[in-house]
Amino acid sequence: MRVLVVGSGAREHAIAATLVRSGANIVSAGPRANLGIDPLAKATLRADPTVPAPVVAFGKAQHVDYAVIGPEAPLAAGLGDALRAADIPVVGPSKAGARIETSKQFCRELLAKYGIPASPKFVAVHNADEVDARVAEFHNPFVVKPIGLTGGKGVWVQGVDFPTPSDGAAYAKKLLSGGGDGVLLEERVEGEEFSLMAFVTDSGIYPMPLVHDYKRALEHDLGANTGGMGSFSQRDHLLPFVAPSMQERAFDVLRRTVEALRQDGIPYRGILYGGFQLTAAGPVLIEFNARFGDPESLNVLPLYEEGDFDRLLYGVATGRVDPNLLTFRQRATAVKYIVPPGYGTTPKVGAEVTLDLQNVGDDGVHVFFGDVDSKLPGKYILGSSRGFALVGEASAIHEASTRVEHALSFVTGEFYVRHDIATKDDLAMRTEHVRGLFVPGAKPSPLPLSVAAPEAPPSSAAGPDQVLST
Ligand code: GLY
Repeated sequence: MRVLVVGSGAREHAIAATLVRSGANIVSAGPRANLGIDPLAKATLRADPTVPAPVVAFGKAQHVDYAVIGPEAPLAAGLGDALRAADIPVVGPSKAGARIETSKQFCRELLAKYGIPASPKFVAVHNADEVDARVAEFHNPFVVKPIGLTGGKGVWVQGVDFPTPSDGAAYAKKLLSGGGDGVLLEERVEGEEFSLMAFVTDSGIYPMPLVHDYKRALEHDLGANTGGMGSFSQRDHLLPFVAPSMQERAFDVLRRTVEALRQDGIPYRGILYGGFQLTAAGPVLIEFNARFGDPESLNVLPLYEEGDFDRLLYGVATGRVDPNLLTFRQRATAVKYIVPPGYGTTPKVGAEVTLDLQNVGDDGVHVFFGDVDSKLPGKYILGSSRGFALVGEASAIHEASTRVEHALSFVTGEFYVRHDIATKDDLAMRTEHVRGLFVPGAKPSPLPLSVAAPEAPPSSAAGPDQVLST
């Protein structure tokens, strides 16, 4: 089939590569060139996909059978609706369905309306004058979240990004004074995060392997929140600290949410991503996304080598999925993103990196290109966002991480990477953290989080083994 892939990041590179592996022809629409997607694409439209008309016209002119929308912004702008109106089936919800991601207030209120027990205590605030009174309602640490889209970067957590309730109130007021859709205050929940993505269509909802995402910019979960610095997945599609019963409870939250949307007149065809915190009380929903996760998609899509991804996605777009197409190999994966120095706060644009694709790939490590350009073979220039992702696979998670580390020895230049992702020590710490949550009466051992999130760019905080130079 001929497929329109919308978006220009590493996630869309992974989607495009997986489609091409299953025999599809892809055409690409996105705001910038992508070193991985462009060589795969039969045709390319360089355009802002939050403006639907040119993308729809391109899809029609290219006679595509269906479209896959990677990022959230085009979904929020109604690209899914515009493509469907032009008779192009879409993997991606309508603008109304995307509100599950684009409005955190809509999401929480939907769960409350349908009695889906996965939310912490929350309150939406739209007026700066109300902030102090609403903050006073929280007797435990809380989180301040912009209600609208922030690329995962605007969420501040008490005890991590701000120390006292009054500092949180000041941050909430600052957000409200900048316009936007308001803020959500939520009780902070203690635990470990995991991501559960599922294919959703009329015939059902079909889970993908679980993934753990590292959201903080710096090693040991320090620094600013980011889109995600890397991630891992386990061979059995669970995680070292997530038992099958917890996966099932999280999946039930996804299933009931899709049903709730349907009952509210919002059918959903696309990807639904639940970001959960595994707490002593079970999985608590942190957020929904209406799309594949990035980096999570980089873990799971390379595992989809044996099935027919093209038919699977076409089924999602048209309403009926054959469950036999849900074939993810039983391998562990680790993803580490190469980012510009300062990513998360003040990224340096134009950092130069040398990468030998042949050597990097020798250990079966996949490379997915994001915000990176190249003028000469092997020489790359990083933009302000995540540059490229290296994905290792093996039987055990820490072995997948070691493969990526080996591949990193063939990467030189000015960049930052979290070496601690998916190491044995890191996995043991997270597993121990969760074990502590479930010991009756035990106070959970806190992760080494810092109240003073560094303002300095990661480059200056990093040691010599973290920022390499040519
Ligand atoms: N990894 C988080 C996200 O995709 O938003």
